Parts: sequence; C-alpha cells; structure tokens
Amino acid sequence: MSPLHKTIAVLPGDGIGPEVIRAATSILETCAAEFGHHFDLIELPFGGTAIDGCGAPLPSETLEACRSAAAILLGAAGGPRWDDLPLSQRPEAGLLALRKALELYANLRPIDLREALRGISPLRLERTRKIHLEIVRELAGGIYFGPHRLEAENGAEFAVDTERYTTGEIERVTRVAFERAASRSGRLTSVDKANVLASSVLWRKTATRLASDYPGVSLQHMYVDNAAMQLTLAPEQFDVIVTSNLFGDILSDAAAALVGSIGLVPSMSCGFGPPLFEPIHGSAPSLAGKDVACPIGAILCASMMLREAFGLAIEAEWIEAALDSVLDQGYRTADLAEPGCQAVGCAGFARLVCGEMLASLEHQERYGWGV
Ligand code: IPM
Ligand code: MG
Repeated sequence: MSPLHKTIAVLPGDGIGPEVIRAATSILETCAAEFGHHFDLIELPFGGTAIDGCGAPLPSETLEACRSAAAILLGAAGGPRWDDLPLSQRPEAGLLALRKALELYANLRPIDLREALRGISPLRLERTRKIHLEIVRELAGGIYFGPHRLEAENGAEFAVDTERYTTGEIERVTRVAFERAASRSGRLTSVDKANVLASSVLWRKTATRLASDYPGVSLQHMYVDNAAMQLTLAPEQFDVIVTSNLFGDILSDAAAALVGSIGLVPSMSCGFGPPLFEPIHGSAPSLAGKDVACPIGAILCASMMLREAFGLAIEAEWIEAALDSVLDQGYRTADLAEPGCQAVGCAGFARLVCGEMLASLEHQERYGWGV
C-alpha cells in the first residue's frame, strides 16, 4: 500500500478524553513515521471544555472541520461540572448533535475477549469459549432524538420521551448489519421489544423483509430482555447484533463488562459524513488527570480507523499485535490489574505499545513477518 495523506479531526473532549486520545494519537504518529503515511491531526474544542471556552459543546468551527476531515477521533463528553445544565445544553448534546449533523446512523462496537484478559472476565470462561461479536447500534434516531419534554399538569410533573423510527431509518442500519454479518460468520441477531413497542414491530418487520437480500446470512430475532440474559449466559452464540439506539447503548456496556472492562471497547460510527471513532467509555471524571485511565479502547479506535476508514489492515494488525504483546508481558492499567501484573499509567501503557510496535518492525525487517 502506498503512503497515505489524511486529515484527522481530533476532539479530546472532557474527563479522561484528552489522556486516552493522547495515547491513540501517539499510536497514529508512530504508525505514520514507520510506514511513511502523513496524518494531519487537527485538535478541536468539543464537549464541556468547549462550553467553557467557546460557549457551546459543538462549536461551528469544530463541526466544519469534522465535515472536511477524512475521519474523526473523539474522546468523551460530559462531567459533573455541566450536569446541572438543561439537557439540550449539556456536553452530551454536542455529541448527539455531531452524530446527527453527519448523519452517522450505524455505530459498530466490536466486543472481543483478549486472551491475556480472560482472567478478568466476570464469566470465568474456560479456554475453548470465545467472545467475538459486534453490536451494530442505530445512532441517529429513536428515543435519543424524539422530543424530550418535562412539564407540569395540575401541579404534577410529567415527562415525555418518544421512540420514533421510520422504515428507512431501520433499513439503512440493518443493511449495514447484514453486510457486517456476511463478512463474518453469517449470523445476525436483531434485538427488539416487539411484544410491547410499535417501533419494535416495525423494526422486526423491516429486518425480516431485508433478510431475503442476504441469503448468506441467517437472521434471528430476540427480545432485548432475553438478549441481555443470553449475552451473560452464552455470549459465544452471537456474531453480529443489530438494535436500536437505546438498546444498543445499554447492551454494549453490558457486553463490554463481559470482556473485562468498558475501557477496552472502541467504536466506529458511519453513515453520510466522515466516520467517527470513539471509545465507548464515558469521561470518567473521577479518574481524570490522574494518568490511571485505560487507553485500550482509544488505541483500538486508532487501529479500527486505519483498517475500516483507510484500508490499512497490515498497520491495524501490527498495532493490535503490539497491544496483545504488552498485555502478554503483564502490563496493565490499574482497572485491569490482576495479581502478578505490573501496574502502569495511561501514558506509560501507550509508550509500551509504541515501543512494542517499533520492536516488532525491527524484528520483521531482520527476520520477515510471522517469524
Ligand atoms: C455512548 C455514550 C453516549 C450515548 C452518551 C455520553 C450520550 O453513553 O456513546 O454509549 O448514550 O450514546
Ligand atoms: Mg453508552
């Protein structure tokens, strides 16, 4: 592959966002230096930090820079400092506005049990059991974007949130999921609550209709409550899961816990605008600024960007192999610590991964790949 020149919009955001994004950009910079790529990393204000500095969580210059970038790398939004603001003015509103403005309707969350971290999975799985699934979460519609109202009637407060899906919105995200399943093991589970919700009845009907376009994929439907239980009891039964915005938000945190920590999971949001990569953890305000956050979700965002957005599969594999090797050597951030492991900080962990990337390249130059 010849060297690429790409502009990446970098939105560190709040809490641990800046620390984990620094880890991810150090990986991208190491990759660029070694493979001759050129990544222009443009850092932009976003989230609560942008509320404080520019008066809005998604300043228009940030949005415009995102629109013209090849990809976006985002840390996290939110924190107690902004928790008393109305919903529409909070840092999280900036995140939702960015997803909506770029019409990023499909959010892919790969959930993989890394061999070195098998011991911290709460499931205590024996060696033969794997967790290797992907949640495709609808991201630009549903209850997140329906009207949110808090009102009073005869002195009593009431609140309304609305789940609304059009056939077209369900169809476009479900097609992404069918395609992902077709390129994996060919199993797709559509998760809904079609025994109660009209939006889920439409969801199920649409997914069923599309199945005939993908003869290589077997589709099953599952109610969301059962899906939560099945994920915990037998996660290996799943390959690709497709579901609504809210159900996907909930199930992806639960699934992340199964592989050890929410800090381990990256995500890619795709649709009409440039793809957006963000770890699924939040801003974790209590950990911010202490150099203890786990950068693995963010590092995997970097490799996911290289593979999925730029077609750089070799570079992505090289990063992930280096990450696994650092874990195999027993280095862990505090949240992943097990007896006998060596605790390191967020920045130190990223330095180890970069060091391992360089060491494996040197080894490869001397002895060839795979030796
Ligand atoms: C996520 C997060 C966000 C969401 C929050 C921060 C608004 O939980 O990306 O999963 O609910 O989408
Ligand atoms: Mg979430």
